[in-house]
Amino acid sequence: MDLYEYQARDVFEAHGVPVLAGAVATTPEQARAAAELIGPKSGGVTVVKAQVKTGGRGKAGGVKVAKTAEEAEQLAGQILGMDIKGHTVNTVMIAQGAQIAEEYYFSVLLDRANRTYLAMCSKEGGMEIEELAVSRPEALARVAVDPNVGIDEAKAAEIVAEAGFDAETGAKIVPVLQRLWDVYAGEDATLVEVNPLVKTVDGDIVALDGKVTLDENADFRQPGHAALEDAAAADPLEAAAKEKGLNYVKLDGNVGIIGNGAGLVMSTLDVVAYAGEAVGSKPANFLDIGGGASAEVMANGLHIILGDEQVKSVFVNVFGGITACDAVANGIVGALQAIGDDATKPLVVRLDGNNVEEGRRILAEFNHPLVTIEETMDGAAAKAASLAAAPAAPAN
Ligand SMILES: Nc1ncnc2c1ncn2[C@@H]1O[C@H](COP(=O)(O)OP(=O)(O)OP(=O)(O)O)[C@@H](O)[C@H]1O
Ligand SMILES: [Mg+2]
Repeated sequence: MDLYEYQARDVFEAHGVPVLAGAVATTPEQARAAAELIGPKSGGVTVVKAQVKTGGRGKAGGVKVAKTAEEAEQLAGQILGMDIKGHTVNTVMIAQGAQIAEEYYFSVLLDRANRTYLAMCSKEGGMEIEELAVSRPEALARVAVDPNVGIDEAKAAEIVAEAGFDAETGAKIVPVLQRLWDVYAGEDATLVEVNPLVKTVDGDIVALDGKVTLDENADFRQPGHAALEDAAAADPLEAAAKEKGLNYVKLDGNVGIIGNGAGLVMSTLDVVAYAGEAVGSKPANFLDIGGGASAEVMANGLHIILGDEQVKSVFVNVFGGITACDAVANGIVGALQAIGDDATKPLVVRLDGNNVEEGRRILAEFNHPLVTIEETMDGAAAKAASLAAAPAAPAN
């Protein structure tokens, strides 16, 4: 889960990372009130910052300096509602203005390829960091961080030395990097990025921007993170699926997909996309119901998928392993009985694996008018794709 800048700011503050005052506003009037409160800390100057979960806000015109509270109100009026790379700005942060002497870059992230953490740091931070990484990669220090040690004083010193900071500035940055590591480890983050980390004209080091990604796998031990979730921005179907504990990702096609096991579901998406090319059908979602495939889980999954207006047919692709096909077939029967009249879209079922004959027999006997049984995955994909593409039968 990505955090908004204002949330990252709060998390930074809680871990002792130096930040400036900031307050969120969703209307120009609120922005003015916030600027009246915060402005006096910095000679009346505030910065109005679009809160969207994407980079390059500044370049898109979503970060503007206001010299007065009236100007903050005006700028908020311009920035609220703005579209930045497909994200609508619903919230702005009014930040205390900093008098910047220099802008640096720092991040720590999960380095999957090397199975470790990686810290990156540069003396040349700011809005051009992406270009810098390409044109002069040597100006961006990369230092591996041992997960068992983290960024202690010695590691922080290594990072600032590697980035080429002078001794005085480096010594000021070291404790800030240690605090940022506290954020990373303490919050179970997979990314903490500060761009820019600035030195003010007074020589203080301050985090002026923050991007934080939290690892949702750690939610069980991070009870506070639920409050950071952006319920309004989440897809309603994904939110409903999450509530039921389902592994569901909404896509934009018309063939609903249910399978057991992430690998099988991924390949099901592929075969449906391939079979659908000829008829203009595409997968509508990813949904892995896992090993058990109980009637309840199947019913929950079908409910979510049938609730997607774009879905015109559903492909249930199950490979019976430890949970045999007869149990899965009973799950499907139970689910269709539980759903009753809400089951309005054709279902193509492909069962294979452990005890497949009995599974198919159960479904054949159930003889539901909307269910088609297919023997192969490719056959089922083609069937589901063509059913989704067929024009709806005219109502008499
Ligand atoms: N509180 C502040 N006071 C003064 N200047 C600021 C403040 N916040 C941001 N800026 C200036 O605006 C620039 C862009 O701000 P910020 O980094 O928050 O936006 P950004 O577009 O998210 O950047 P990027 O996506 O490249 O990280 C900063 O590099 C800094 O020069
Ligand atoms: Mg930034």
